[in-house]
Amino acid sequence: MHTVHRTPQLAITHQAVNTLNADLLVLPMFEGDDFADLPGLDRATGGEIVAAQTRRELRGSLYETFQTTLDSEWSTRRLLLVGAGPRAGFTDERLRRLATTAGLVARQRRLERLAIVTRPGLGADPARVVQVLAEGATLANFEGASLKRESDVSWLSAVDLQVPEAEGLSDAVTRGVTMGESSNIARSFANEPGNRLTPRLFAERAVALAQGTGLKVDVLDETRITQLNMGMLLGVSRGSQEPPRLLVLEYTPAAPSATTLGLVGKGITFDTGGISIKPAENMDKMKDDMSGGAAVIGAMLAIAKLGAPVRCLGLVPMSENMPDGLAIKPGDVLTSAEGKTVEILNTDAEGRLVLGDALWYARQLGATHLVDVATLTGAVVVALGKTTSGLFGTPPAWVGDVQAASDRAGERSWPMPVFDDYFDQLKSEIADFTNTGGRAGGAITGALFIKEFAGGLPWVHMDIAGTAWAEETKAYQPKGATGVATRTLIELARAAGRWNVNVPR
Ligand code: BES
Ligand code: MN
Ligand code: ZN
Repeated sequence: MHTVHRTPQLAITHQAVNTLNADLLVLPMFEGDDFADLPGLDRATGGEIVAAQTRRELRGSLYETFQTTLDSEWSTRRLLLVGAGPRAGFTDERLRRLATTAGLVARQRRLERLAIVTRPGLGADPARVVQVLAEGATLANFEGASLKRESDVSWLSAVDLQVPEAEGLSDAVTRGVTMGESSNIARSFANEPGNRLTPRLFAERAVALAQGTGLKVDVLDETRITQLNMGMLLGVSRGSQEPPRLLVLEYTPAAPSATTLGLVGKGITFDTGGISIKPAENMDKMKDDMSGGAAVIGAMLAIAKLGAPVRCLGLVPMSENMPDGLAIKPGDVLTSAEGKTVEILNTDAEGRLVLGDALWYARQLGATHLVDVATLTGAVVVALGKTTSGLFGTPPAWVGDVQAASDRAGERSWPMPVFDDYFDQLKSEIADFTNTGGRAGGAITGALFIKEFAGGLPWVHMDIAGTAWAEETKAYQPKGATGVATRTLIELARAAGRWNVNVPR
């Protein structure tokens, strides 16, 4: 794949602030900040800081930026203040975004070397502060408009983090860089147009990335998918000239693991809706319908690199959803690999079909705990909007484990109910159940369909239809793919020893 992201060189330094050598010195600034911890700073700017504060140009409000110069007593001659908001209520997520904001400003100004100064109030745990800053800075080195012929992109080359002395900071840097890098990998997959990322190409590129990581890789082609009777995955791919693939990545930890985390990501490389075709408006957006799969791939790469105390499987069922003479039709009945029959009422509800067969296969491979990630429903966007992913699953403690991981990752999620009676909406006259339950509670009935294939294991379904794509540019986030769920899955796997649901079945 062409380069759409680069990993900057991250380093820790304990040097005095005025001796840091970079193109741009980055200072977080709280509301009402007097920079008492940095005597001489205002003088070095020729009084610019206090002057700007006095005329209220500079307030320290969240992600506000202010650039000025420093005198020759300082090794770095350009200063960027980034607003951190009120001191009370400051979070890791704000810190991460602050670093991304600084990185994006630097890239816009073609400045390549950053030095980020940590200050009292940014966080109690230095390792956490460093990890989060490294994540944020790495996330800034991503380019969305990568297919323009004349590209004039500037990249961050080096980012120094100036922190007080502490232990274990180099591991924290590696963690942060790897997590940012994995999110960027997921974003670049999701940004890729459908013609450049067919199921075969998606699988090929994932295999190339897994090379040399220690991950075991298996790509099931249409022949093996047929041998396994994956009627739902085959059904979805029937309408496409492109054959399906099922990617399986496996991570085995050094110490034996009684539990196996099965991660399953929706990998629809383009979703036209099939015979139940979508309206033309915004259909182009459906190139990101493999964001869940991209997150699983990104996460598995990081899990291999950083290590996790649990065996992990990453499965991505890959297919296009197209209308064609051979395509499945409303009213058709498909038989899943597990044997359950499904009446197709809407061919646009294809994600749950490919996920169902993949979840079954994850169980065949020994998964004891399941998480699936999917751009599954428009309904979840109605319910939770564009900044919060929906969590559905059972038991509640397992949902809690995933939510806690998502909070640590700065990828907000919220639990939704999976009450059994919603399943009535999936009642079929002729098959075991249907693939759609109507408009009411559409995200919930989608989840209940998937639950049918979780085999009673602890299972969480993360619906990222609202969060996978940013519609607006923010200071800390360019428009386009967000890579959401990648870091959640990494955090979840790494926390395996502390899960609340740890009993293998
Ligand atoms: N990929 C879509 C869901 C989606 C919608 C993602 C909007 C991102 C933004 C999914 O395959 C789909 O089409 N879902 C249908 C399900 C319905 C037919 C039951 C939906 O949400 O309309
Ligand atoms: Mn669809
Ligand atoms: Zn879809």
